[in-house]
Amino acid sequence: MNAVDQTLPHPMRLGTCYYPEHWPEEWWADDAKRMADMGLSRVRIAEFAWSRIESAPGQFDWGWLDRAVETLGAAGLGIIMSTPTATPPKWLVDQMPDMIAVDEGGHPRRFGSRRHYCFSHLGYRGASARITKAVADRYGAHPAVVAWQTDNEYGCHDSVLSYSKAAEAGFRLWLSDQYSSIEALNTAWGNVFWSQEYRNFGEVDLPNLTVTEANPAHWLDFRRYSSDQVVAFNRAQVDIIRAASAGRDVVHNYMGFFTEFDHHDVSRDLDVATWDSYPLGFLEQFWFSEEQKTRYAHTGHPDIAAFHHDLYRGMTNGRWWVMEQQPGPVNWARHNPAPLDGMVRLWTIEAMAHGAELVSYFRWRQFPKAQEQMHAGLLRPDRVDAQGAHEARLAAADIAAIGSAGAPQKSVAILFSYDSDWVTKIQPQGRDFSALRQTFEFYSELRALHIDSIDIIAADAPLEGYDLIVIPCLPILPDGLVERLKASKAAIIIGPRTGSKTRDFGVPDQLPPGELQGLIDVKVIRAQSLRAGLADYRWLDHVETSLSDVEMSGAEIVSASDGRTTYLAAWPLAGALKKLMTKLSFTGAEDVDPEIRVRRAGDHLFVFNYGNTASEWRPGGDARLIIGEAVIPPASFAVWRQASAP
Ligand code: GAL
Repeated sequence: MNAVDQTLPHPMRLGTCYYPEHWPEEWWADDAKRMADMGLSRVRIAEFAWSRIESAPGQFDWGWLDRAVETLGAAGLGIIMSTPTATPPKWLVDQMPDMIAVDEGGHPRRFGSRRHYCFSHLGYRGASARITKAVADRYGAHPAVVAWQTDNEYGCHDSVLSYSKAAEAGFRLWLSDQYSSIEALNTAWGNVFWSQEYRNFGEVDLPNLTVTEANPAHWLDFRRYSSDQVVAFNRAQVDIIRAASAGRDVVHNYMGFFTEFDHHDVSRDLDVATWDSYPLGFLEQFWFSEEQKTRYAHTGHPDIAAFHHDLYRGMTNGRWWVMEQQPGPVNWARHNPAPLDGMVRLWTIEAMAHGAELVSYFRWRQFPKAQEQMHAGLLRPDRVDAQGAHEARLAAADIAAIGSAGAPQKSVAILFSYDSDWVTKIQPQGRDFSALRQTFEFYSELRALHIDSIDIIAADAPLEGYDLIVIPCLPILPDGLVERLKASKAAIIIGPRTGSKTRDFGVPDQLPPGELQGLIDVKVIRAQSLRAGLADYRWLDHVETSLSDVEMSGAEIVSASDGRTTYLAAWPLAGALKKLMTKLSFTGAEDVDPEIRVRRAGDHLFVFNYGNTASEWRPGGDARLIIGEAVIPPASFAVWRQASAP
């Protein structure tokens, strides 16, 4: 087997997450054969197996894992090996009890589930490096091992921010590095307010447990510090793996709608950003209306998966995977419906349309014990195929029919930065206001207009080649952004609260949108947030402008444009974006079925129906159908190939 046969263009691969330690060894060879027969060629293992690898300090049992690797490799599967650091075993916690993360209320989190460690704890960092080296040395050169996953879902179960003694000590050091003098910190944070001034860095506590809210600048720095600990923790593992396992991709599996650390920063150390896609679970858990939760209960909201595909494609030079894909009902949302038949296949091909190199299903077989016993697998606990297995097979046939999806096209860029969401979390100023949500809503409105190529990119990423740049909510502007926007030829749309904060979490001297006033003549002189039902909007930036091209809602300006750049002052958008896209002559902005989503890749056009009724969709020109029909049933899709792509 070739250890590095994973360069694109290659038709997208399928895989699964497998836990040999959960099953009798006699089943492994049959499992591996069935995986390969199903069309899977990748298998991720071992991310929670620490207690079986090292049952007591220094007591390693590699035998079972060696045999699992041999068995899976012999079936032709490429193995994604993991470091098991998301589940430190009991003996380790007993050895260093203060490695446990502490919650915002000051309570230590207990052993008995997972992710109980504190990123700041140097002893745990050492233990993580030690087990990483042991696993990497053991399997780094194994020909069946094609990639590595570090840890598992950094931050899951609210585990980035820890209020431990280790975090307190680390934060103080980090602050003294950032500010050099305590006077500089006092000035930056505005600590003269409420007599919050410190005399030295040793006096600065963590921002939890204060009587009323702590200084927002204090929170923002604590979030920056905490994010940096995730980066450092990951980097240490990556360095060890690279030294022992040349030529293999090193990846991490990110989550959905999750912003607690800066994923752009972590991704700089990875080969591939991967993410875990649970469209039905995310719909239930996040801000969607009751009406949407009901309408899309069995399909997932049409933009949840795609939003993350387009976000994570922007992390590691366009390379990205779905490491975990929901194959049936999950166990962790408020309600856990089954996907409509066809959706597992649809989600798989949708990932392909957005450029995924791999979709891997979580999990191979439902485990009848412990926390996730109600979570579906591709197989039922009795080893019979579940619905997910049938759909994985169909998806494998689709992929074979399509071949390589083709390169993504550059058209619309949406700018997003993680500190934007930190700012609106720390200071929502109006219930429900979230930069992440605002970014998603802009994205979703554009997709509902059948815009077929959207990249979600970091605020400091190159802007060349885009026709439209959208900045839904970027309170802190990165250095040089205004110049880069001026230099680009794109139309620009800016959403409320953009440019509303300095790096120190202050109001900019020239008022919001700060330096963007050099791009468009708009000054926000006050902002208000409103309870639902009071107006068309829940948030309004009151703008002063000399521009005459303005939209009004009653007496208020809700958008102002100079022809090239438009400032949208109100949230939610209530159709504003649709009007604007028509004005900017973006194709696709005419009346279209809002339940259909279209994605262009190379000379392929993928069309997905998230609605409850069949819908007809035909491309112009000389396109021919590869998969499906022009009339697309619910939970289904069509793939067209154009002889000459535009
Ligand atoms: C993911 C996690 C998996 C499993 C899965 C269940 O968040 O990485 O280990 O718990 O959810 O849906």
